[in-house]
Amino acid sequence: MKIAILGSGGREHAITYAISKSKKIEKIFCLPGNAGTDIIAENIIIDINNFEQVYDFLKKEKINFVVVGPEQPLVDGIVDYLQKFNIKVFGPNKMSSQLEGSKIFTKNLCKKYNIPTADFGTFKTKEDTIKFLKKANHPIVIKADNLASGKGVYICKNLDDSTNAVEEIFGGKFGYAEDILVEEFLEGEEMSYFIISDGKNFRSFGTAQDHKRVGEGDTGKNTGGMGAYSPSRLINNELNQKILDKIIKPTLKGLSDLGTDYKGFLYAGLMVKNNEPYLIEYNVRMGDPECQTLLPILNTDFLDLLVACVEQNLKNIKIEWANKKSLCVVLCSKGYPDKYEKRIKIKNLNALKLDNNNHLFHAGTVREDNEILAVGGRVLNFISLSENLLNARENIHNNLNKLNWAEGFYRKDIAFKVIGK
Ligand code: AMP
Ligand code: GLY
Repeated sequence: MKIAILGSGGREHAITYAISKSKKIEKIFCLPGNAGTDIIAENIIIDINNFEQVYDFLKKEKINFVVVGPEQPLVDGIVDYLQKFNIKVFGPNKMSSQLEGSKIFTKNLCKKYNIPTADFGTFKTKEDTIKFLKKANHPIVIKADNLASGKGVYICKNLDDSTNAVEEIFGGKFGYAEDILVEEFLEGEEMSYFIISDGKNFRSFGTAQDHKRVGEGDTGKNTGGMGAYSPSRLINNELNQKILDKIIKPTLKGLSDLGTDYKGFLYAGLMVKNNEPYLIEYNVRMGDPECQTLLPILNTDFLDLLVACVEQNLKNIKIEWANKKSLCVVLCSKGYPDKYEKRIKIKNLNALKLDNNNHLFHAGTVREDNEILAVGGRVLNFISLSENLLNARENIHNNLNKLNWAEGFYRKDIAFKVIGK
């Protein structure tokens, strides 16, 4: 088979790696990929948000199967677009992708199907929102409705914070804002929960805890994710069943009642308190860096699984995992998530100890004249698999010391709630 993988992050390198292990592969293209994917696939520089360009390339190369990594093209309807040309695509359609594309869509679905989530209200004007906030208890959470790469969320301690959030969102910081979402602040611990669905059947696809904050001890600004470990320390059979019964199944039923179905990965961002799950948000794709921790422990042929999903044949596939824990540390450019320098050389990659249990997935890197340059905020993902997380983290730190990249930084405390700092 000839495959195209859309995206350029650590998640997409992990997807490319997992697919490349399949015996059915003739060729893999990554659009546009990074300096890691170009070792196992061919990178093609294309703007994946320009669907016509993507289609022209797929047609020219006679690609049989497409995997979409990031949310933006999904929310914009790339699956519907390519299906019109009879191209097989793994990922949800435009209607289902509203689960990530519109927080208000998801909140309304939660309300209708009694899915546990934070109480919420939506407002159309600055004045109405502030009038409400003056009477509301703080802390309170304020969100822009549209896709904002995780940045359109404000946790507000007091009225000053919340007024500022309303000004920024209605001021257009995240694009034109028709509505604003005000939410009850949920206490508890977060967990990422994944399923894979073929539109008729679905399977759980692992759990992880993502460390989203930039600083040690989960402090400082939100980022795309500084590291993760899997499985989450919170998961147990009872909680798993509650997540399926109270959150996942009613969501899939809700989509079905709207006349559509869900195909692809669905990522539920949950808050767990006293073994009870609450939905914070949905993402219509794998998590990044959670994907990088999960795919290396998958024993099932990943391509078979994705194809079965698109062909609505998931019920015939057994999903098997290695009996190991997995940990990922993200190496970032100094300054991230704010300003950082680009085009900084990374040397010493050959010094790393990599094997079946120790992986390196690139994120914001490019290769130029056989040199690797950092061009993004999140640059490299170090993954280690082991019977215990402490051992995995030590393996990663050894590799990070070997790399010794002075222009980067990383969190040394990933999984600290399980194994300390
Ligand atoms: P989101 O983009 O909706 O996932 O929000 C980003 C982060 O903000 C989440 O990962 C949580 O840490 C936090 N967050 C969002 N909504 C709430 C809420 N209602 N209560 C507490 N924390 C929240
Ligand atoms: N790990 C957070 C995300 O992928 O959105």
